[in-house]
Amino acid sequence: MPRVIKIFDTTLRDGEQSPGASLNISEKLAIAHQLAALNVDIIEAGFPISSPEDFEAVRRVAREVRGPVICGLARTLEEDIDRCWEAVKDSPRPRIHTFIGTSPVHIEKKLGKTPAEVLDIAVTTVQFARERCEDVEFSPEDAMRTDLHFLAEIVEATIEAGASTINIPDTVGYATPWEMSNTIQYLREKVPNIDECTISVHCHDDLGMSVANSLAAVKAGAGQVECTINGMGERAGNASLEEIVMALKTRTDEFGATTNVRTRQIIKASRMVSNLSGFVVQPNKAIVGDNAFAHEAGIHQHGVIMDRQTYEIMKPEDVGLSESMLTLGRRSGRHGLRQRLADLGYEISDEQLDVVYQRFLEVADKKKQVYDEDLELIMREATEEVTETWRLVGLQTTSGAMPTATVKLEKEGETFADAACGNGPVDAAYQAIDRITGVSLTLEDYSVRSVSMGRDAIGEATVKVKRNGQEALGKASSTDIVEASAKAYLNAINRLLVRESRNASDGQGSR
Ligand code: KIV
Ligand code: ZN
Repeated sequence: MPRVIKIFDTTLRDGEQSPGASLNISEKLAIAHQLAALNVDIIEAGFPISSPEDFEAVRRVAREVRGPVICGLARTLEEDIDRCWEAVKDSPRPRIHTFIGTSPVHIEKKLGKTPAEVLDIAVTTVQFARERCEDVEFSPEDAMRTDLHFLAEIVEATIEAGASTINIPDTVGYATPWEMSNTIQYLREKVPNIDECTISVHCHDDLGMSVANSLAAVKAGAGQVECTINGMGERAGNASLEEIVMALKTRTDEFGATTNVRTRQIIKASRMVSNLSGFVVQPNKAIVGDNAFAHEAGIHQHGVIMDRQTYEIMKPEDVGLSESMLTLGRRSGRHGLRQRLADLGYEISDEQLDVVYQRFLEVADKKKQVYDEDLELIMREATEEVTETWRLVGLQTTSGAMPTATVKLEKEGETFADAACGNGPVDAAYQAIDRITGVSLTLEDYSVRSVSMGRDAIGEATVKVKRNGQEALGKASSTDIVEASAKAYLNAINRLLVRESRNASDGQGSR
């Protein structure tokens, strides 16, 4: 019988630490529900002490998402542990994950301590966390650059102190698969109480080896892998969940291990995370890239028609590909829409259905077929918790020698209009918006992509803006990309305004 490896998803914590990614609470909740549908074993929902928003997001996930263990991250500080416990304690299955650097550079340069002091802090904190929560995970940060003797010593001591999961992070993505395998084997041989815990690995992708390193650890006896959807994460990212899960499923013969993940939910999770975070998945990305199951070369197409196994080692339907193709159209009624939304995991009230159905009809009027990806966007916009301070009510643009935009906005029932010229219609629209709102900001990033299929596909615009050191991401979609761009810009402005007024009222700075 293959061993079942626990999948610890950290998209909402390490993934969200990706530069430029910032998810609001309702987006985090939507992702957490999808992770539960995917049947991951543990969701690391955030780092509660890092900001009031993160605390609230972890608390809502703990209260509302059922199935997986809900975990929060905490440094080895009593205030971190208390805040983390406050956030996760309402889950039926809470976990506190605490960490401290153990490599020479972390101990000496970052912490300014001795190894003995670090060991003492780790033990005391794990004990402190165990007084609150039965399920405690400990990570010796930068484990793969830590002296092996010291690593074994701190692992043994923290298990003794009550940690039931010991995570071995390759924090800077430095390890090779052979080193990872040797480290896990070494700990299994030298730490006398190692069988009292689950050994976990957490690999970053700086040298492109995070998945290989995670799988090497599994082969050497690790029982938990920490990973993220689409490999999102700090710098080059974390090990990608879909690659690990599908490698274990496809090569159970090689690894003698599998997972509890419902692989048919993978594509949906990948697209949701990509849409909500604005992080585009590269077309040739393993498992979830647009080309991952596409056969272009004639010789390959011929082979696949004769027998899929000639060039396909996984079935596209096993990752949920064909299931996302079902479409609705203009003539679909409320019942069909509600049913399809329920299949996608959205249970909505009658009032919400009214709003969503209206938006669905607008999209269906412009497009012949409304795909699941379109529905995801409609749902996201309908349930977003951003106060719409400024709303776009009219937009007219001309391109050519002097691109011009006339913009009409609404704020608190009052309508404002202005016009401006720019480098192109989008730039002109942004200048007109700046003039009306009087909000001056820097546009840091701008992209448009097609998020559904067909010539009349919906385009999603994502912008990143900055003002007074505060960044905000704005997203919006439409079949008209200039309109999507203007709405995304307003969405970012609205987010900034909400954040600024929240900061002003609680006296907090940004994270
Ligand atoms: O990469 C890392 O070391 C981490 C720890 C907090 C586990 O993310
Ligand atoms: Zn990490």
